[in-house]
Formats: sequence, C-alpha cells, structure tokens
Amino acid sequence: MSREAFIVGTGRGIPEKILTNADLEKIVDTSDAWITERTGIKFRHMTDESTSTSDIALLAAQNAMESAGWSAADVQCIILATVTPDYPFPATACLIADRLGLSRVPAWDFEAGCSGFVYGLIQAKAFIEAGFFDRMLVIGADCLTKITNWKDRASCVLFGDGAGAVAVSSQGPGGRLGGYHWGSDGAISDLLIQHGGGSKHPASHETVDAAMHTIAMNGSETFKHAVRAMRDACMKALEMEGLDKSEVDLLISHQANWRIIDATARALSLKPEQVYVNIDRYGNTSAASIPIALDEVARGGLLSPPKRLVTAAFGAGLTWAAMVLSWKA
Ligand code: UT7
Repeated sequence: MSREAFIVGTGRGIPEKILTNADLEKIVDTSDAWITERTGIKFRHMTDESTSTSDIALLAAQNAMESAGWSAADVQCIILATVTPDYPFPATACLIADRLGLSRVPAWDFEAGCSGFVYGLIQAKAFIEAGFFDRMLVIGADCLTKITNWKDRASCVLFGDGAGAVAVSSQGPGGRLGGYHWGSDGAISDLLIQHGGGSKHPASHETVDAAMHTIAMNGSETFKHAVRAMRDACMKALEMEGLDKSEVDLLISHQANWRIIDATARALSLKPEQVYVNIDRYGNTSAASIPIALDEVARGGLLSPPKRLVTAAFGAGLTWAAMVLSWKA
C-alpha cells in the first residue's frame, strides 16, 4: 500500500497582549464599526518588543508535539512558513529546532505569504509520501505587527501576530493530507509587498524614511483576486480528491476578511455552521491563521465525529493553495 501523511497533533502559540479596535481608533482615523463591518475583526494579539517569531513558533511546535505524544527524538524535519523571520538569515526554523532540542534535523524557512502554511502541508505530504521522512513539524508563524505601517489605516487595522503548528506522520490515525492545489502569479506581486530590506532595496536611511520596510497593500484589488483564487483552489483540491463540494464538512479558510471567507463558503454552498471563523479574535495572522484555526477546531472537539475539512489560503506573491484534510476513513 502506498504511503500516506496524517496530521497527528496540533498546537498554537499566541502572544498575550491584545490590541482592540478601540486602541486603533486612537492611532489612526478609523472606527470599531468600520473595522467590524468591513473585516470582521474585533481584536488581535500582538507580540511585545522582546518577543519574535521564533518565540511564538516554539510554543506552537511544543504544543503540537505534546498533542502528538512526540519527544524531540521523534522529529525528523522541521519547516517554517513565515514572512517575518527573526533574521533575514539564518532560517528561523534552525533556531526553533535548537530550542526544541532536535538533533541535527533538516530545518528550513520558506515564504508564500498567507498561503505559507498550506504550501507547507503540501511539502510535508510530498516528503512523507516519498519516504524521505516519517515525522515532520510544519509551522506557520508571523509577527505582522512588526512590519505594519501604523500610519496606513487601510492596512494597519488588519494584522495580528500568532503561530500554529502541526505534527505530520506517515502513521495515522489523524487528518489525512489529501487532494490539493497550489499556484502563484508574480505579475501582480505589487498588490501586496514589503519593498525594502531585500537585495532590490537594501536597508538605508532612505528606505526607512519612505516606510519601505512595512506592508504595502492594494486591499480592494487583493480582495478580488483572493475570492477568485480561493474558490478555484478549493474546487481543484476537491476534484483531485475525487470529492464533490457537498461532501465537505468544514471549511478552514485563511482569516483575512470575513467577507472573503463568506464568499468562499458560498462558492462551496456551505452553511454558516460549516465554516470556522476566528478572525474576530486574531485578525490576519498570515501563515499562522490556518494552523491556529485547526488547533482550535481540534482542541474544541470539533473533529468528533471525524470530519472532512477543506483549507484554503491566499497571500503575497500572489500565492494561493488549498488542501483536503480527511479525519474520515
Ligand atoms: O492576507 C491576504 C491578503 N490580504 C487580504 O486578503 C486583504 C484583502 N482586502 C480586504 O480585506 C479589504 O479590501 C480591506 C479590508 C483592506 C478594505 O476594505 P474595502 O471594503 O475593500 O475598502 P476600500 O479599500 O475600498 O475603502 C473603502 C473606504 C475608503 O474611503 P472612501 O474612498 O470610500 O471615502 C477608504 O479610505 O473605506 C476607507 N477606509 C477606512 N475607513 C475607516 C479604508 N480603511 C479604513 C479604516 N477605517 N481602517
């Protein structure tokens, strides 16, 4: 029988500090009513000055390992999706591996914006099914508030910090990593971009003065592409799994805007109770949003009875990805 990959543990790491819409009203010309109505966000969590992506990613990884019943010796590989690594290099995954006490395992970061975690699941599926590894940790973690432009009301109200992780094994039972779809379109990369700090515009006084180290986003254009790409990605992932949309129990979408989640749910003809939404409490946590939601679903008992989930994400690149996760036989 061919090899398969299963989610056997989940975890999250959430900074304690909370930033409410009322707090934002004091920073930019906005209102709780606008943010709530246009995005669904009520508050988000935020790291303090002494906390970075590796700190919350470590917590998420520890929780995922604990829920899988794994010790450090069990982990054979660790991958991290992030656009806010601790440093440009070395990879934050290496720092996390060290703090977890993992023994010289392969560890690397990759970035696919908010689609990063689902990109990570697809990588884990490939590596495990091909026999490279039996047990991997996949983490999505971001501290977007560290690269937020607090003068741009159109974007600064959206983001929060957080981390989520899953333990993926060649041995079930668990959530089988099933049909998937992923893609990108670099022709529209300027819709969502951090201009400064890379080799194109290395950090300088000028790049700092021009706010080039913070997120620049064309929200309404990104919105349109997000709705289309997430719908198409879900349909293609279901097709690969040989499923009809009527066979989906629960949608776990990237939490960028409740209106995007709602549009994706409508495209799949899902009822409100079949859609997991936590954007009100987290905002957009980028690569962390899906694994945080998965952990809440798992720990909240929502996988009992076993369910068939679809995850879908969209983000900078532009990138998109979807995957079917089956807790059902
Ligand atoms: O994570 C993956 C990538 N990111 C996304 O998927 C984000 C996708 N985009 C969005 O979620 C939405 O486009 C936003 C929430 C960013 C914006 O919502 P929108 O309904 O597309 O608003 P808009 O940009 O069309 O702006 C409508 C109005 C404008 O005012 P006027 O020109 O109509 O007078 C904006 O200036 O809302 C104004 N506005 C605000 N007003 C109060 C924009 N931001 C704010 C704000 N508070 N924070």
